[in-house]
Amino acid sequence: MQNPKTIFLKAILSKKELASVDLNYAKYELEAFLVRDSKAKKYLESGKISERSKEFKQIVKAVRSVLRRAHSLFEVGDRSEEYLRFHEEIGEVKTWKKLVELSEAVLASHASSNERKEDYKELYTWLAKKVKPLNSIIDLGCGLHPFSVVFLGKKKLKGMNYLAFDINNSEKDLLDLFFDKTAGFFEGFYGKADVMNLRNKQSQKRLKSLDNCDLAFMLKLTDHLDRGQGHKATEEILVSLNSKYVLLSFPTITRSGAPMRFPKRKWVKYLCNRLNYGIEIFETKNELFYLINKC
Ligand SMILES: C[S@@+](CC[C@H](N)C(=O)[O-])C[C@H]1O[C@@H](n2cnc3c(N)ncnc32)[C@H](O)[C@@H]1O
Repeated sequence: MQNPKTIFLKAILSKKELASVDLNYAKYELEAFLVRDSKAKKYLESGKISERSKEFKQIVKAVRSVLRRAHSLFEVGDRSEEYLRFHEEIGEVKTWKKLVELSEAVLASHASSNERKEDYKELYTWLAKKVKPLNSIIDLGCGLHPFSVVFLGKKKLKGMNYLAFDINNSEKDLLDLFFDKTAGFFEGFYGKADVMNLRNKQSQKRLKSLDNCDLAFMLKLTDHLDRGQGHKATEEILVSLNSKYVLLSFPTITRSGAPMRFPKRKWVKYLCNRLNYGIEIFETKNELFYLINKC
């Protein structure tokens, strides 16, 4: 007989828009749900599970909802066709100008990066003044944000090291292709994307084992990590990172476009004071950035 968790995972990931979710991450969320819901755990362990039962459907629905929230899929739906098209077009790129043009289109296809597309140049100009040197970047919960390095300027891309992590599997291929193409235009450029579930304790060990870097991005990520349960998860990652600077960001408008009532995240300031980290703010019309100096 098949392991009950395997049966659940198969059902949970059978939706087309969840097909790209990393299996280990889905397993992690299923297990976390079973810890929260003892009735569901009892049902799963009863040895009498039926895919048609109310209990089975409720568990599948609850875990899918967590996965959708983490992947921001509920707002963009299935993007596989668009991804394939980008993959093909980027694969055929012959000039840097064309790669920049396509990168802008990719950034516009993801809600988070689309919201800041007019601000990238200004943001990178500010970052380049603050973070010196800026030769290595780690991007956590990256989405498609790594495509924005095209705004960093040609000089900085020579010798740049960029590691990008997310739970989303499907973006990995597109990012690696982009990194390979960029390496073809800039000597010494190295980029790599990988799957990492930052809510998993082992990620902290992995983060600690990475080489030192100049800047780490944690953009629009901490709400996914903390999930309204304090800020311990964010703090642990912040401390684990071997990065001189960390850039956290938060949206300042709601999904419907209205300004948030409390856009400032005072806890970031308190946390940095307690940890003795420096902090500077950069603000755009819809996003608040905290540049944390860990040195
Ligand atoms: C709102 S998007 C932000 C994307 C990107 N950082 C940006 O600002 O353009 C949140 C991202 O965090 C990722 N994410 C959510 N939970 C995660 C986790 N536990 N581990 C790693 N990445 C996660 C999602 O897959 C998604 O790409």
